[in-house]
Amino acid sequence: MSAPVVLVTGGAAGIGRAVAERCVDRGLRTVLWDISGAALEKTCAELGPLAVGHVVDVSKPESLKAAEADLSRAGVTHLVNNAGILGAAMEWDAVNTKSVDMVLAVNVVGTMAVTSAFLRQRDPHPDAAIVNMASIAGMNGGAPGYAAYAASKGAILALTRALARDLAPDLRVNAVAPGIITTDMQADIQSDPARAALTRTGIPMQRPGTVAEVAEATDWLLFEAGYTTGEVLRVAGGRQ
Ligand SMILES: NC(=O)c1ccc[n+]([C@@H]2O[C@H](COP(=O)([O-])OP(=O)(O)OC[C@H]3O[C@@H](n4cnc5c(N)ncnc54)[C@H](O)[C@@H]3O)[C@@H](O)[C@H]2O)c1
Repeated sequence: MSAPVVLVTGGAAGIGRAVAERCVDRGLRTVLWDISGAALEKTCAELGPLAVGHVVDVSKPESLKAAEADLSRAGVTHLVNNAGILGAAMEWDAVNTKSVDMVLAVNVVGTMAVTSAFLRQRDPHPDAAIVNMASIAGMNGGAPGYAAYAASKGAILALTRALARDLAPDLRVNAVAPGIITTDMQADIQSDPARAALTRTGIPMQRPGTVAEVAEATDWLLFEAGYTTGEVLRVAGGRQ
């Protein structure tokens, strides 16, 4: 069996970087797509020659079109749909539909468009798999002010189930649902003591998770969980 080749979107930082690092540690060629060229350059230099980066904005069809040929050139077999944004906080009586559109464009439409490009260009593999990065926000409504984000992650859970049904038995499709994980995405919330305290309420493990802990669960769903598809694995310290 040929070795898997993995595409990780949003792979330059945070959870995506940790997932890419784990793939490289397995000795796998790993393609990182990210909107940030500078972060991508730094991460690929740190991860070494198995990691190849391309600047791609998953929310822009023209950017994806330009990058699509990368997938067949690299022989990509596995996909991690990780790129995502939190968006601005907003009150219900002041919904900013532009900001909602942007969250949905990256988190939902981007995931669907990247998956479609991957399916057109992938190299078939006997244990091909997709992992989508959801969030427990998609189950519990998320932090106050971030309903657009929660809605986008609820959509990821639905997409995961639809894809798993439609792509079996050729591909397995699962989701990871992290809770509070220490990354740049959490920086604004965690730097405000009152909001930070709110987000930590009700974590039985009494601490945020690490990117390595999310990468471990992602790695299991990608490479080890041979009879698991359409499932959601929470990595949330026991929080529902
Ligand atoms: N950090 C958390 O607490 C947490 C919790 C639950 C779910 N998640 C999810 O995990 C995923 C990664 O989050 P993170 O915390 O590592 O975020 P992060 O902000 O640290 O990293 C996200 C990466 O995605 C890239 N990116 C953003 N928009 C992009 C676009 N349009 N096209 C391509 N790349 C883009 C960024 O440049 C960055 O490198 C997201 O889907 C997020 O919703 C995070």
